[in-house]
Amino acid sequence: MILNLVEKNIKKVNADLEIIITDSIKNIKEKEILENLSFEAKDEAVVLLPESKKIFVGHEAQDYDSLAIAIATAVKKFTSTKFTSAKIVVEKQNLKALTEGALLGAYTFDKYKSEKKEEKEKELIFCIEKLTKATKKIFEESIEIATAVNRTRDMVNTVPEDFYPETMANEARKIAKEANLSCTIHGEKYLEKNGMNAMLSVGRASRHESQLIHLTYKPKDAKKKVVLVGKGLTYDSGGLSLKPADFMTTMKSDKSGGCAILGVMSIISKLELPIEVHAVVGAVENMIGGDAYKPDDVLKAKNGTTIEVKNTDAEGRLVLADCLCYAQDEIKDIDYIFDYATLTGACVVGVGEYTSGIMGNNNELANEVVSCAHKAGEYATVLHFNRFLKKTIKSEVADICNIANTRYGGSITAGIFLEKFISKENKEKWVHHDIAGPAYVEKPWGYNPFGGSGAGVRMTLEFLKNIK
Ligand code: BES
Ligand code: ZN
Ligand code: ZN
Repeated sequence: MILNLVEKNIKKVNADLEIIITDSIKNIKEKEILENLSFEAKDEAVVLLPESKKIFVGHEAQDYDSLAIAIATAVKKFTSTKFTSAKIVVEKQNLKALTEGALLGAYTFDKYKSEKKEEKEKELIFCIEKLTKATKKIFEESIEIATAVNRTRDMVNTVPEDFYPETMANEARKIAKEANLSCTIHGEKYLEKNGMNAMLSVGRASRHESQLIHLTYKPKDAKKKVVLVGKGLTYDSGGLSLKPADFMTTMKSDKSGGCAILGVMSIISKLELPIEVHAVVGAVENMIGGDAYKPDDVLKAKNGTTIEVKNTDAEGRLVLADCLCYAQDEIKDIDYIFDYATLTGACVVGVGEYTSGIMGNNNELANEVVSCAHKAGEYATVLHFNRFLKKTIKSEVADICNIANTRYGGSITAGIFLEKFISKENKEKWVHHDIAGPAYVEKPWGYNPFGGSGAGVRMTLEFLKNIK
């Protein structure tokens, strides 16, 4: 879908259809027909009037969510017709929600369909009363943001046979080239040489070599330094603690954290922020075989911490442990260090499939992250650590266990595990994002179609934009 923003009265714009987003039908010319069609101005209600060539969509609130869902609903209706152009009146204050909602709602993924829809690209025209520099900037930035989310979705949706650690590394190289970032990629030899035995062990039974990906955006005027670390499990079978069949499907999405930060990096230079941004991704495949790491093994991470493996399905934290150590060893004077991972099923159980769990030692920072998420159109909530849960990852044989000794609070105990790999000076600068719920969509919601959602991308970009 092509989006265009024009400074024109909508009546003077030629298009096949007009979209009207409304919270009431009281003053609408077609009120009677709409009533007869039982149309109510409620979220996700939509009707196409072929005679007047209008699409009516309801919305209940004046917020990002409601507007983005409304335009996505309209766009889905529009794309289901043979009409090729549509127009809509927009205002500066709803431009971001409408631009992003339209592009996120129009997303489709047909890589694996033998019959592709080969239609002429559709055009959606936004008519604004006054086109200022500021509105133009909002519009262009929103297009970039949606493009980054959709690129993330493409990666997540690509199947494990086509997207394995080397593919992820190649994707990172491509992004680096396009966006003018520096890119360093290390294979297993490096992991071995640098004592990254936790990450190395997880990937040992895979026929694909694990990859440590490091992208850097370093503008000349950088005033802050942000490090993003992502879990890039291109497949998580569970390893020897094998997942049951029903839980294994969708585990191509276990790379979502890594994909999200690659998505962020794909547009970072376009935002022209005075911030140095690093993305470190641990790209690994967790498989079974004679070479697999085992429950009972003790692994030594890069910072010397020894980990008793009690469950090979708690692999994400092992990969992240070494990636967090690597990031802090290689990058000095960090202002923020954020990690992103589809880390625990417990997070999905605890807060639902729409919301990310935000954790860390710095409550103020965690709250800020949540508020950026909400501003950007994502759902997130803080999960607090406590002294009792901290005791549950103790081990009899090693420094810590990779799972807790309690059945409860699994997302928090996973966060507490990660905290062991944050050095003293970074304790308050670290935030962990458990995106296990929203990263992959099995029942479409809002403007998210089936598959990868790109969770984490918009909230991170919003946070970066707001750094003082
Ligand atoms: N990748 C999974 C977590 C996950 C579950 C993500 C569902 C998305 C949807 C992770 O590696 C895992 O398997 N975690 C275990 C941890 C357990 C063994 C302590 C889990 O959540 O069951
Ligand atoms: Zn797992
Ligand atoms: Zn996993």
